[in-house]
Amino acid sequence: MVSTEKTALYVQLVEQARALVENEPDEIANMANVAALIHDTFHFWWTGFYRLIDDDLVLGPFQGPIACTRIKRGRGVCGAAREQRETVVVPDVEQFPGHIACSSLSRSEIVVPVFSNQGDVIAVLDIDSKALATFDDVDRECLETIVSLL
Ligand code: SME
Repeated sequence: MVSTEKTALYVQLVEQARALVENEPDEIANMANVAALIHDTFHFWWTGFYRLIDDDLVLGPFQGPIACTRIKRGRGVCGAAREQRETVVVPDVEQFPGHIACSSLSRSEIVVPVFSNQGDVIAVLDIDSKALATFDDVDRECLETIVSLL
């Protein structure tokens, strides 16, 4: 997908996400709809959230095949995004030491931390693609905007 087409889709997506979450205080309901919205727009392989519960990232609302339920501190791409408190873009999961392969079909990945109003990481948004190098700075910026609405 060319970058301008992707940006245009994200512009719509941000507004749809804003409308979906603005009057709903329940975090899980909002994560569920945001995951569905992103997944339906781009047809990624897997789109979902892991929520920080008792020091583990625990599987939350998602779209796609079944996935690992619990990710320990510092493990995988999700653990890296949590520790670094910033988005991690992985163009080729085989080149990422410690990548957790929930699906052998996943080839590239982006993980975006979700922060509380106090600045603590409360969850991560994880998206997997069956193609290499799917995610770039457009995805990073737009997905960061979307999770900031949660
Ligand atoms: N690949 C992730 C694990 C979660 S699944 O992709 C849904 C990771 O390395 O943290």
